Amino acid sequence: FKIAIVIVAAGRGERAGAPGDGPKQYRRIGGLPVIHHTLQKFLTWPKSGPIVVVIHPEDEALYAASTDGLGGAENIIVTFGGDTRQRSVYEGLRAIAATEATHVMIHDAARPFVDHALLDRIAEGFAAGNDGILPAMAVTDTLKRGGSDGLVHETVSRAGLYAAQTPQSFRLSEIRTAHEKAAALRHDDFTDDASIAEWAGLAVTIVEGSVDNIKLTLKRDIDMADEKLTQGNP
Ligand code: CTP
Ligand code: MG
Repeated sequence: FKIAIVIVAAGRGERAGAPGDGPKQYRRIGGLPVIHHTLQKFLTWPKSGPIVVVIHPEDEALYAASTDGLGGAENIIVTFGGDTRQRSVYEGLRAIAATEATHVMIHDAARPFVDHALLDRIAEGFAAGNDGILPAMAVTDTLKRGGSDGLVHETVSRAGLYAAQTPQSFRLSEIRTAHEKAAALRHDDFTDDASIAEWAGLAVTIVEGSVDNIKLTLKRDIDMADEKLTQGNP
């Protein structure tokens, strides 16, 4: 099989604050833009097929600057995203339609700490015949359901609960059909691809995620990521 990669990078990063700083995927951690780190992980993974990056139409210059000096970046297919993550993924899937890929990994540009061991676990899942694969971590916190009265109503069992990560990975034809179906029905409030797959009736297998594979969401996530990468090389 041949695994295409779709990296979604068309968001505005509103929760990371300060509009003047630009979208989070272009902010620097360890001296390089977040998306540079993310792309490097996939460009250097031996099993990567064609790579599509989905960007915002206003970010062309930022994207070009971020991939400066990145080996293999000239082969990346760049396309424009939409107003929701779901729409951006859909555009990315359309862009790989012309390639020979059989499978696809759909990844957030804002997760620069994805590692090759995780990608290998997913590829092994494909080899074992799984058509949908979700990297996820078992929830470790004790969970509470709270009410609008501000009180704890109950403790929720965490048995069987997982926190979803990316790259969520699928047989290409199946996830494309699921996305097309969702778009045609104007069902546009899915926050990840596994939920579209579940909705479409596809089986999704869980593989162990990685504790480091966090999504940079808030400004403090970006600051901590920068500290982590600059530690030891000041
Ligand atoms: N994304 C996208 N197109 C959108 C929205 C999000 O390609 N319309 C991408 C983001 O660039 C990011 C990933 O989806 O890499 C995960 O989304 P999220 O963390 O929510 O990023 P933003 O939407 O940019 O941030 P926020 O929700 O805080 O505005
Ligand atoms: Mg968002």
